[in-house]
Amino acid sequence: MDSDSARRPEPAGEPVTARIDTTKPHPARRYDYWLGGKDNFAADRESADAVSEVFPTVQLAAVENRNYLRRVVAYLAGEAGIRQFLDIGAGLPTTGNVHEIAQDVAPESHIVYVDNDPIVLLHARELLNSSAAGATAYLDADLRSPQDILRHPDLLKTLDLSRPVALMLVAVLHFITDDEHPYRLVRELCDALPAGSYLAMSHATNDYLEAEDLARNAAANQRSGVPFQLRSSQEFARFFEGYELISPGITAITNWRPEVYRPHPRAEAVSMLGAVARIP
Ligand SMILES: C[S@@+](CC[C@H](N)C(=O)[O-])C[C@H]1O[C@@H](n2cnc3c(N)ncnc32)[C@H](O)[C@@H]1O
Repeated sequence: MDSDSARRPEPAGEPVTARIDTTKPHPARRYDYWLGGKDNFAADRESADAVSEVFPTVQLAAVENRNYLRRVVAYLAGEAGIRQFLDIGAGLPTTGNVHEIAQDVAPESHIVYVDNDPIVLLHARELLNSSAAGATAYLDADLRSPQDILRHPDLLKTLDLSRPVALMLVAVLHFITDDEHPYRLVRELCDALPAGSYLAMSHATNDYLEAEDLARNAAANQRSGVPFQLRSSQEFARFFEGYELISPGITAITNWRPEVYRPHPRAEAVSMLGAVARIP
């Protein structure tokens, strides 16, 4: 498939701008704010500031998460030889989008991006800027409806689900609270992928928090207006049960195959876990 066949977002019904509510905070725009982007509004910034009050290094965490994403995609496209990526919770376009990293290694790579924020849809054209040899598509869809993603015609035109796919769930599962069945959702997506596929994740953790900090954190998340659930490394490990963890296994994202020449912050300052596993 060449870049001409990359899908352009075509939302049915009402125009996408009608679905953008700037009076309520949204994870994509709040993350954009922490990363120094311009696609955020007062409600997003207020929500972001409520989080930074109790977790002052949150901006560093966002930057380190992007660095982790870059190292993971480079590993998957390079050492693991993956040529297809399904990136759910893709976020607003920024430097080093998945297709840019993967196609830098292998221009023929195919990438499907998914996000449920209409503002990401509005900017998705940048995510569709595929190399001529590869292809990208963008789906306006929700992680909580895996079958809508897996059966989407644009996904099926872009990815061959009989060949290995890297499922990227980077900094998104902490927005899925336990009552929304996060483990079941991830399993349903992985079960649709053939052997030799990969699951790559990062997730905010409570591993480094004392009981008192935990309570402050929960209150701040409540105030921030964005449902959010920290998980321990044991809880995070459940997502990978039955899969083959790639070295170094489950670790702070800063310790996942760090570049030797670059100093990286303490795990506590970032408070995010990461892991990549092969689906047998
Ligand atoms: C913190 S950003 C992470 C972006 C990117 N994956 C990264 O790691 O740099 C989380 C993204 O997940 C998206 N998101 C949150 N809940 C989602 C859901 N239920 N379905 C699809 N996307 C979701 C948000 O809109 C946001 O763009």
